[in-house]
Amino acid sequence: MKTVFITGGNRGLGLEFVKQYSQLGYGVIATCRNPDEARELNDLKETSTTDIKIHSLDVTNHQEIDSLSQSLSNTPIDIIINNAGIIGPFPIFKHIEKQRFKTMDYSVWEEVLRTNLFGPIKISESFLENIKNGQDKKIIFISSTVGSINEGKESAYAYATSKTALNKAISLMAENLKSEHIHVLALCPGYVKTRMNGGGANLETYESIKGMIKQIDALNESNTGIFLRYNGEKITW
Ligand SMILES: NC(=O)c1ccc[n+]([C@@H]2O[C@H](COP(=O)([O-])OP(=O)(O)OC[C@H]3O[C@@H](n4cnc5c(N)ncnc54)[C@H](OP(=O)(O)O)[C@@H]3O)[C@@H](O)[C@H]2O)c1
Repeated sequence: MKTVFITGGNRGLGLEFVKQYSQLGYGVIATCRNPDEARELNDLKETSTTDIKIHSLDVTNHQEIDSLSQSLSNTPIDIIINNAGIIGPFPIFKHIEKQRFKTMDYSVWEEVLRTNLFGPIKISESFLENIKNGQDKKIIFISSTVGSINEGKESAYAYATSKTALNKAISLMAENLKSEHIHVLALCPGYVKTRMNGGGANLETYESIKGMIKQIDALNESNTGIFLRYNGEKITW
């Protein structure tokens, strides 16, 4: 049985990744900050026909990342999905000025970078041996079109730059890992109805995840290091 490792598996896109990968027959290692409060994830674990293991993990806590990777050192992982992320203080519409030029709150920016940029890179470093021991050898990052220098229009500095910097790290990592046959992909999920978006989004989590799994399936040596929307459209960096 293949294994997928997912961060932020308790709600939104992460929870839907857990659901769809378990339905596809994958073993799932789902991580989240507060497993005891993750009711839907725990319910899924109870009813799933495949193995779902839940571990506590805050992606900003490097010690916790290292100790989880040590405790899973004998577990091959086929796919890592770096999904956990924040847009900034919640709800975003009340706090957006903290990310605007002239009214910037730098502590917000730091927290967003720690979560959206350092978190996924640190996880990729710490679980690299698990990926080497897996068959698929794929590291996936849930980025955003907002981080595209050409296409991103939202001027939320903290969130946008966290994804732009993540994109650069992904393209460097794709080159660094090519010789080890590990493939890397940046994905934008679309504008999806999750807590992050309040009410304006137009896409169901089911459609977004179904599309992203298709792109992950198609990832290989020839297209490693690209940036795609959930439906396969190429996004310019
Ligand atoms: N929804 C969209 O339209 C959209 C568009 C582009 C990109 N994205 C990206 O998609 C990813 C998932 O977002 P979503 O839409 O599913 O949002 P969401 O519903 O707000 O879920 C965010 C997830 O990230 C987790 N998380 C946040 N900080 C964390 C930390 N320090 N450690 C561990 N987990 C943490 C949350 O856990 P808690 O429950 O503990 O807070 C939650 O599970 C994010 O990277 C986001 O930037 C989303």
